[in-house]
Amino acid sequence: MAKKLSIKTYGCQMNLYDSARMADVLAPLGYRLVDGPEDADMVILNTCHIREKAAEKVFSELGRLKGLKAAKSGGDMIIAVAGCVAQAEGAEILRRAPFVDIVFGPQTYHRLPEMVARAVRAGSEPGPGRGILDTDFPVEPKFDHLPEELAAGLEVQGTSRHLSAVLTVQEGCDKFCTFCVVPYTRGAEYSRPVDAVVAEARRLAAAGAREITLVGQNVNAYHGEAPSGGGEWGLGRLIGGLAKIDELDRIRYTTSHPRDMDDALIAAHREVAKLMPFLHLPVQSGSDRVLQAMNRGYSVGDYRRVVDRLRAARPDIALSSDFIVGFPGERDADFKETLTLVREVGFAQAYSFKYSPRPGTPGATFDDQVPDAAKAERLAALQALLDEQQAAFNQAAVGRTMAVLLAHRGRRPGQLVGRSPYMQSVHLMAPESLLGAIVEARITAGRANSLAGTLARGAARAATSPAADGTMERAFA
Ligand code: SAH
Ligand code: SF4
Ligand code: F3S
Repeated sequence: MAKKLSIKTYGCQMNLYDSARMADVLAPLGYRLVDGPEDADMVILNTCHIREKAAEKVFSELGRLKGLKAAKSGGDMIIAVAGCVAQAEGAEILRRAPFVDIVFGPQTYHRLPEMVARAVRAGSEPGPGRGILDTDFPVEPKFDHLPEELAAGLEVQGTSRHLSAVLTVQEGCDKFCTFCVVPYTRGAEYSRPVDAVVAEARRLAAAGAREITLVGQNVNAYHGEAPSGGGEWGLGRLIGGLAKIDELDRIRYTTSHPRDMDDALIAAHREVAKLMPFLHLPVQSGSDRVLQAMNRGYSVGDYRRVVDRLRAARPDIALSSDFIVGFPGERDADFKETLTLVREVGFAQAYSFKYSPRPGTPGATFDDQVPDAAKAERLAALQALLDEQQAAFNQAAVGRTMAVLLAHRGRRPGQLVGRSPYMQSVHLMAPESLLGAIVEARITAGRANSLAGTLARGAARAATSPAADGTMERAFA
């Protein structure tokens, strides 16, 4: 009988990829994904450690699961904690939540079958030392041990993985920004060989993926072993190679570091029609003093130059970013420089956060911590400006026709939701048969976080059409 598996994913796209792969690893053991943890035989929380709030969520969710486990008839529910909190605080989790059966880090989930077998043997009676902990950084990358077979029926953030898939090509980080836990939770930077990436992209495309997002904590630092074995390919070249897969219509990548935007990658934005005109390029701050204290390795001027080169290559490219306010030592004048940079660059969307001191990172020990009230004030001002820019960007789409990949059902009956080339959600009424199709949509309204549109007559392409996705220019033609 099929066993029910529930995976709840927090954090970044790499965690989304890992969650999908955990389902692949567990499928041969008879586990099938279900929506919620209520009746599950196994529950995995794939966690994020990036800010204090993110990490705290784990313990409150575990409290809820404890009740579910106790109430489950038969009593058997394996509870596992995965991801970056597991990596950073594994032993602490087992101590504070002794009903947790398994704790494993981002680099060891290929060993899940053994861990599950051990957990089943250990039974469900809580006891000291019973929980299994595997937070190694194995010498051989997990990718070499993951199955080729993809688990069926998998949804990632409400979208069928078989339509819009994430594919980890690079993992880990050697940059050690002074605020960031990632180098400690994910380990050293590693790029997968080109052949392995292309083979996995082909499998995803064969399973129906029309869009692939290449992910990595520093995805544009990618330098994978070339197919012939000689030398390495950067991300620009990899994207060019993946664009040759006919069934794939759209390629995206995230997250990029401003320091690693090389000429070949920028050229790909000019040359590869399937590469979507949207880029998430976190700048963090508009003050050189703060950037230096953060150890980001670039200046505001460097960032501006990268943006100029990108816009020269692809004039309609839409930009997104991350910002941290209230990093230690940030003064009002520094923050004003961030606002200035935002006004000058113009972002289609962005994320902004109050600085959260993380254990084990240098920033947490800096003297000149910023009081929370100042952080809150700066965050509100920055978010107001970013919201304004996002609304203006969405408003500018009204009246245009855009290529929209219809990825999932909307809340209203008969409604489908898709993405524009610029990552905007587009809601429109369309027959279910168009799920998975790239359609031409006429945009009728631009809202704060999404667009509304109508199907442009006769514009729908069949879901199986191998045609490349139209860019905005093409949609106008
Ligand atoms: N590798 C990416 C960022 C990964 S973390 C890069 O270098 O740009 C995602 C975002 O979380 C970061 O861009 C940053 O804005 C935010 N972040 C990371 N650590 C943080 C902390 N300690 N406090 C607040 N925000 C943080
Ligand atoms: Fe963290 Fe900096 Fe690495 Fe990004 S580049 S993952 S912010 S250490
Ligand atoms: Fe969070 Fe780990 Fe990703 S800390 S942002 S899940 S790499």
